[in-house]
Amino acid sequence: MTQQTRQIVLASRPEAEPGPENFRMEQTTLPAPGPGEVLVRVIWMSLDPYMRGRMSAAKSYVPPIEVGAPMTAGCVAEVIASGDAGLKPGDLVEGRMAWAEHALVPVSEVKRIDPAAAPLAAWLGVLGMPGMTAWTGLNRIAQAKAGETIVVSAATGAVGSLAAQLARRKGMRVIGVAGGPDKCARAVAEYGCHVCLDHRAAPDARALSDQIREAAPDGVDVYFENVGGKTLEAVLPRMNIHGRIAVCGTIAWYSGVDNPPPLPPVWRTILTRRLRIEGFIVFDHYAHTPEFLAEVQPLVAAGEIRWRETIAEGLDNAPAAFMGLLQGKNDGKQLVRIGADPA
Ligand SMILES: NC(=O)c1ccc[n+]([C@@H]2O[C@H](COP(=O)([O-])OP(=O)(O)OC[C@H]3O[C@@H](n4cnc5c(N)ncnc54)[C@H](OP(=O)(O)O)[C@@H]3O)[C@@H](O)[C@H]2O)c1
Repeated sequence: MTQQTRQIVLASRPEAEPGPENFRMEQTTLPAPGPGEVLVRVIWMSLDPYMRGRMSAAKSYVPPIEVGAPMTAGCVAEVIASGDAGLKPGDLVEGRMAWAEHALVPVSEVKRIDPAAAPLAAWLGVLGMPGMTAWTGLNRIAQAKAGETIVVSAATGAVGSLAAQLARRKGMRVIGVAGGPDKCARAVAEYGCHVCLDHRAAPDARALSDQIREAAPDGVDVYFENVGGKTLEAVLPRMNIHGRIAVCGTIAWYSGVDNPPPLPPVWRTILTRRLRIEGFIVFDHYAHTPEFLAEVQPLVAAGEIRWRETIAEGLDNAPAAFMGLLQGKNDGKQLVRIGADPA
């Protein structure tokens, strides 16, 4: 059984912000699955900021996508034909696939998910890679503790909203930074932030820094860094001695349009405040996924963790949704509904 599918390939590399011209829809035919492969119908596709890095030729922790090759994403899909005794048609799986309506994937690269345990899309968000990232940054990298003050940037995003909630549950004072009054209100009402500051309303880093000083008069012990840019410049002077920064992402710089702060004062602050700054990539920590799920899955099941999803409908709308994500147009986990969700 062969399968016709549509897929989106990288048409060209963006110079700054990606545009529609960087993507191209193609039709292709997938062969029947061979031994150790499954043919799947994609249901949910996750759009994530790291994909911007993969569109560029610059060396990074994962190789770039070749021009002409399909874009890839974390997806939840239904098996429709199987070349492996362990998976049968109707099984639901999560794994890395092409931006496509159907995909042929090695069984070793997907894991089966239980539709009774949580909504299917949660395995791409709060219980998936972004959730694991929040838990890892907070616990394994920043070693955040009760009584400390934390700043979480992109505080209503997929990673930030869970980091904020877990920090609050630990007994920390949580200061969110997000874009716009609606997101800031939600960070406080839904994600456990004591206060949330609007980085888009602050005219410059100094103004945002003054607001952080007001919100955290005793200084900041932990910064969960998701954005870089103006927010990083604002938080750094507020860091306490022996403060920790978990460097998770720098989305403000992904398209090279936001200038970095000058290095000498940054370096001096790191020295004089004796900061510990550690970058991390979630996949280095996947061995700890059982600990993450043991903590977060029962909270999700009990309805004690809140999250939002921004859903684009259909593969055709994936590029626009991705461009919107890089501009903060998403509210929570950015997903694309590719096919009907049987759950
Ligand atoms: N290290 C890892 O392994 C790992 C894994 C997953 C994600 N990440 C990183 O974690 C960060 C958050 O990812 P996510 O998936 O949770 O995305 P997200 O927060 O759901 O969406 C991205 C958000 O970033 C904010 N943003 C965009 N441009 C900005 C700018 N110039 N200045 C400040 N904020 C800006 C926007 O929120 P506002 O409207 O609030 O500004 C936007 O909604 C990203 O940097 C991502 O690359 C890292």
